[in-house]
Amino acid sequence: MIECFHYKYKCIQSEDMRTLTIGLLGYGTVGKSLDSLLQTHDALTIASIFRRKGKAVEPRMTDDPMKVVANSAIDTVVEVLGGLHPAYELVKSALMNGKHVVTANKALVNAYGDEFKRLAEVHQVSFLFNAACGGGLPYLSSMIDSREEGSITSVGGILNGTTNFMIDQMERKHLSFEEALKQAQSLGYAEADPSGDIDGIDTLNKLRLALVVSSNRWVEVNSVQVEGIRSLQADDITFLQANGLKVRLLCYGQMSETRSIAFVEPTLVKADESESAILANNNIAWFSQDGQPRQELIGQGAGGLPTAGNILRDLEHIQRSTSSMLPMDTILVQADNTQEVHPYYVRHALSLRNSALESITVEKYVLGEQVYRFTSPVSVHAMHQMMSTIRLHHPVFYAGLLSGRSV
Ligand SMILES: NC(=O)c1ccc[n+]([C@@H]2O[C@H](COP(=O)([O-])OP(=O)(O)OC[C@H]3O[C@@H](n4cnc5c(N)ncnc54)[C@H](OP(=O)(O)O)[C@@H]3O)[C@@H](O)[C@H]2O)c1
Repeated sequence: MIECFHYKYKCIQSEDMRTLTIGLLGYGTVGKSLDSLLQTHDALTIASIFRRKGKAVEPRMTDDPMKVVANSAIDTVVEVLGGLHPAYELVKSALMNGKHVVTANKALVNAYGDEFKRLAEVHQVSFLFNAACGGGLPYLSSMIDSREEGSITSVGGILNGTTNFMIDQMERKHLSFEEALKQAQSLGYAEADPSGDIDGIDTLNKLRLALVVSSNRWVEVNSVQVEGIRSLQADDITFLQANGLKVRLLCYGQMSETRSIAFVEPTLVKADESESAILANNNIAWFSQDGQPRQELIGQGAGGLPTAGNILRDLEHIQRSTSSMLPMDTILVQADNTQEVHPYYVRHALSLRNSALESITVEKYVLGEQVYRFTSPVSVHAMHQMMSTIRLHHPVFYAGLLSGRSV
């Protein structure tokens, strides 16, 4: 064994590739895909699988999770149950029993990542979660690798495949929001309760992971301004397409000693902007470093096999070395979006009268019962605040303009 230091995280490197005996928690879309992917990897063996009572139908399966997380024959636990409980208790137990842990569960890492990182450090095991942000894209690990070459100054992209699929269906197939959602659900992209995706919470969770991995800073969850696509209508698409614009749900984060910006919002992009070419359920995840061109990763952000592929990357990493994706010295910061200023598009019903909105409007079109506006540059902070007040009484859709962004 060779001791080394890896971006401030303690890392123990193995001279030989380890073989791993894996315990799998959950056998749904990702769990099944990982099982089939590992059939061709002799050094990575799934020895035990936790499933619900009545579903543990083959010899490797058990409905007692302790037979996985406390099993001395297992050295690595992969958690793909989803949700916070019992995932939290089981991951904690696995780490305390000295097992490496890989998870694809962004909500779990957001809620308990620091606790897991400390346990992993104490027990000298790995805690990795590449698949929790970007699905099949090795976004987090690419940022960790790139930090050796200089600090990462900003991160962002389209990190939710479900909403991108829905918007793309609305744009290319002229579906209504409801039809696009139904289609996403029938293809297994959206859950029965789609709020996490369409309200931007999934993107928020991924943005927080991208920021902590790239900058050591957890941005306080309530300080991030988040607008999803729930209010997007076919009327918006028709109007925006006539103006050469597409909608994408983007996130942006910038962390430095002096600035902490973090927000999620629908954004209008032109045909020559990279985001415009991201179709179906694909993602684009990017990061910037001082003096270097923006690094972009484009591909499937979700789906059983792509996600399992990212879990496989983590397992192969564990075969070579022991490390944690979360830095030891994370700090909590508040996002401050008052200095990030750009123009906005706003659509609302003719019945709305609002002098503050009127005073920042530079172009206004009335078509039937709807008003479509473009504003002068406004801070993200002010716009989200104004819209949440207006929304108390009037439905409204709004989106930032990418080309007018100051960051
Ligand atoms: N699917 C993707 O594209 C994707 C991409 C990136 C990350 N992820 C993450 O990967 C994780 C798994 O996602 P998934 O799509 O594979 O979900 P899924 O298809 O719903 O699978 C979850 C599995 O866990 C089992 N499970 C859940 N709660 C359980 C409990 N209390 N006891 C026993 N078994 C339980 C389910 O059993 P039942 O079938 O019996 O309910 C199911 O087998 C989630 O954290 C998700 O956010 C998924």
